[in-house]
This record gives sequence, C-alpha cells and structure tokens, in this order.
Amino acid sequence: MDRNIIEKAQKYFTTGVSLITSSGPHGQNVMAAEWTMQISYKPMLIAIFIHKGNATFKNIKQTKEFGINVSSEEQTTAVNIAGGYSRTEIDKLKIKDAFDVISSKKIKAPMIAGCTINLECKLVTMKKLGDHTMIVGKAVAISYDASKKPLIYHTGKYFRLGKVIESFRKTVNVDEPTINWFSIKSDGRFVLKCVGLIIKSKNKILILKHTTKNKSYITIPFIVPKRGNVYAKSLDFYVKKIGLRIMINKVPVLKRLIIKSKKRILRINFILFEGRLKSDIKNYTWKPIISSSLLHELTN
Ligand SMILES: Cc1cc2nc3c(=O)[nH]c(=O)nc-3n(C[C@H](O)[C@H](O)[C@H](O)COP(=O)(O)O)c2cc1C
Repeated sequence: MDRNIIEKAQKYFTTGVSLITSSGPHGQNVMAAEWTMQISYKPMLIAIFIHKGNATFKNIKQTKEFGINVSSEEQTTAVNIAGGYSRTEIDKLKIKDAFDVISSKKIKAPMIAGCTINLECKLVTMKKLGDHTMIVGKAVAISYDASKKPLIYHTGKYFRLGKVIESFRKTVNVDEPTINWFSIKSDGRFVLKCVGLIIKSKNKILILKHTTKNKSYITIPFIVPKRGNVYAKSLDFYVKKIGLRIMINKVPVLKRLIIKSKKRILRINFILFEGRLKSDIKNYTWKPIISSSLLHELTN
C-alpha cells in the first residue's frame, strides 16, 4: 500500500485527546493520547494505545495504574505540552501554569483539573499490537464535569464540538387510541422498532382492526420483532398465523416517524415490506390509503 496515502488517510480519524497521568520510575508524568476508548460498560474498561518508547509506558508497566483525563476545549496548550515533550526531557507537570494538578483518590498518579472526564484506572492487561501497546485499565474512581466541552482532534488540528444534528423524523398526527396502542407496544423504549407489511390494491390498503375496551383502531399488519431475529422471517411467520397467504417482496423501506396526539409523541421506526396476496381474502378490511395520515405516510 502507498505509505503516503496511509499517512494522509489516518489523519481523517476524529478523536478526543486524553491526558494520561502516571507516577513511576520516571516520576510523575502526563502525556497526550488520542487513542483512548471505552471498551466495556460493566466493568468500565478503557483502552489506551501507547508507544513503548514513552516514559508513560514504563511508568504504567511498573505501577500498574494510571489516570485518564479527557481534555476539554480549553486545554489545547496542556495537550501540546503533554504530547510534544517527554518526561525524559522535562518534568511537564512542573511547567508554570500549564497543568492544574489535583490529587487522586485511589491511585498514586496525580489527576488534571478542568477536564470533561477523570478516570483513575488499575491495569487489567497489556498487549502489543503493531507499533503500539494496548493498555486496558479498569476505572476505580470516576468523575465528570458536564459544563466542560470535549476537545476534538482531526487532521492534526483541534476543534470544538459542533451543533447537534437533529435526526430527521416526519411528524404524523394520529388519534389517541392509535398512540395508546403503539405506546403499549413501545414499553418505554426511546424508539419503537416495528416491521410492517404493506398490501395495496389500487388505492386501498389492507389493514387490521384491533379492539380493546370498546375502543377500536386500525393498523397495517406489523410486528415488534425480537432483537436479532430475521425481520422478513418473523413477519412471514406472523402473517401466516393471522391467516394471510402472501408473497413478501424482500426489499424493504425504512420510515422514521414521530406519531403525535395532542401533547404526546412517540418515535417509531417502521421497516416496511410490500406484500402481494396469493389468493383473495374476505375477512380483512381494505381502507383507502388516505383514510388516516399514518396510513398515508406509511404508503408514500
Ligand atoms: C494530540 C496528540 C495525541 C497523541 N496521541 C498519542 C497516542 O494515542 N499514543 C501515543 O503513544 N502517543 C501519542 N501522542 C504522542 C505522545 O503524547 C508523546 O510521544 C509524548 O511525548 C509522550 O510523553 P512521555 O514520554 O512523557 O510519556 C500524541 C501526541 C499528541 C500531540
């Protein structure tokens, strides 16, 4: 592979930058590490990738503990110093006004104030991978400051976090029984994932009528699939169970909607397959597509 392309392409990864603190044979130290990543929730494990030539590497190898201080956008100077000099050259933590050093609770290494997250870690494992060593630590003390914004590192430059990208969802007004029906199905989930079947005939659509407690409402045939199950198979199984004989077109579409009734909203992702009836049926209801805004949206 072209070395030039590799060098350019790797700059396009986007990361934060952590200040790795340690205290060992090289004394107290701080270095910058963009390769910092949480790799497990329970226990909370974080991997950092450190070159064996760094003073930090030797400190961690000997003491089996280190601090991860995820830098904020105000800490570019600290990051430059931590990443631009080695402890073998200068005691970086002693440089005037460069680092706001604070003491840690569970490890010997100091911590850095003004960061977004501070994690005191005990070494779990080390593994050499390519030209760096993966060092995995288990967090034994954690704090964070929600008022601080993380520093972003990209193409060798520092950036601020930009605006939130609102994920586009179309809002569809529905009646109360419909939102109630889907709310029960959603069971408190942030997004309800449904797999539905669209069976059209001219400008009509096949729907199911559900009735509970004297209220009735209509939906297309749909299921809330179990995680990991093959959607088309689960849908096929369901429609057979309710007595439909159909061919399912295997190319689905995705509709990301918000259904709204008065002040209530519910996010629903519909994966929709089109179906073709194998034979005529009598017991199901056909509705004009425009009879409800939800049906209209699902079929458009
Ligand atoms: C923004 C930035 C990110 C860095 N990320 C890493 C990294 O993930 N792993 C690494 O080994 N070195 C990384 N470095 C380089 C080290 O911070 C640098 O070699 C430092 O001098 C090592 O310090 P030490 O010898 O005192 O431990 C980075 C440097 C900068 C400026």
